[in-house]
Amino acid sequence: MIQIKLPEEEIAGVPLRNHMLLAAGILGTTGASLKRMLNLGAGGVVTKSIGPKAIPGHHGPALIPVDGGLINAMGLPNPSKDFVEEIAPLKGEPVVVSIFGGTPEEFGTVASWFPDAAAFELNLSCPHAEGYGASIGVNPRVVRECTEIVKTYNKPVWVKLTPNVTDIKIIGKAAEEGGADAIVAVNTVKAMRISTELRRPVLGNVFGGLSGQAIFPIAVRSVYDLYDAVDIPIIGCGGISSADNVLEMMMAGASAVEIGSAIHDSVNIFSEIAADLYSKDGIPAEEIVGCAHV
Ligand code: SIN
Repeated sequence: MIQIKLPEEEIAGVPLRNHMLLAAGILGTTGASLKRMLNLGAGGVVTKSIGPKAIPGHHGPALIPVDGGLINAMGLPNPSKDFVEEIAPLKGEPVVVSIFGGTPEEFGTVASWFPDAAAFELNLSCPHAEGYGASIGVNPRVVRECTEIVKTYNKPVWVKLTPNVTDIKIIGKAAEEGGADAIVAVNTVKAMRISTELRRPVLGNVFGGLSGQAIFPIAVRSVYDLYDAVDIPIIGCGGISSADNVLEMMMAGASAVEIGSAIHDSVNIFSEIAADLYSKDGIPAEEIVGCAHV
């Protein structure tokens, strides 16, 4: 397996310590857990998605293990503006604040609360929150307008896309037109399970989003598609659990990656992957980003 060097420059406007970030939604609800993941080797961290009002999320069951991954229907539970105090001690760290809203104006309001964010990640892709996430993120005009308004806060803006669309390239281009600094591809794949014993859906919300190794090929395909469509960096996300997965994502076109569900198996996943991925004699990552394109 080839090895790469650590990044020497910012990636998509953020000074990452390596090419791997903690993905939104996993261990991202407290300042302490975000700091812990940085201490355990994450190159940067993305917070739990924060919205315009505090909400408890969907009733349970909200997370179920399935073959090759997890299905969650958390429903975007979040403390809203109270999260500002929670992450205040992390000022100066590579903390990307994930935000959501139901309108471009709500995205702008939430962004205005976080002047210390290293960047914003716009959640336009949660597949199980009515009025938020993918329910508005499938509309290219709305994606462009949300990106434009958050961009006025003079921070890098990353836009996280749903794979649950016919053509992800159209949505990626809309984010780029709105001034996005990066595309994050992808959020979870809309999914559900049914209990054959109870003859009912397992999740309290009926359907949720599948993450983990089962969706890695979908994420690779999405990154590959987007690399041909946009000129801004792409952050690969979805089922990454090994150094070889990181390299494959880069060859598809990713400049960095986010890791979430693999933390369920090992909280040390970042340092475990880094041990295989990096060498001081490695090649610059830029040499392999998009190299699989013919
Ligand atoms: C959640 O918190 O409901 C999951 C977030 C997401 O799927 O974007």
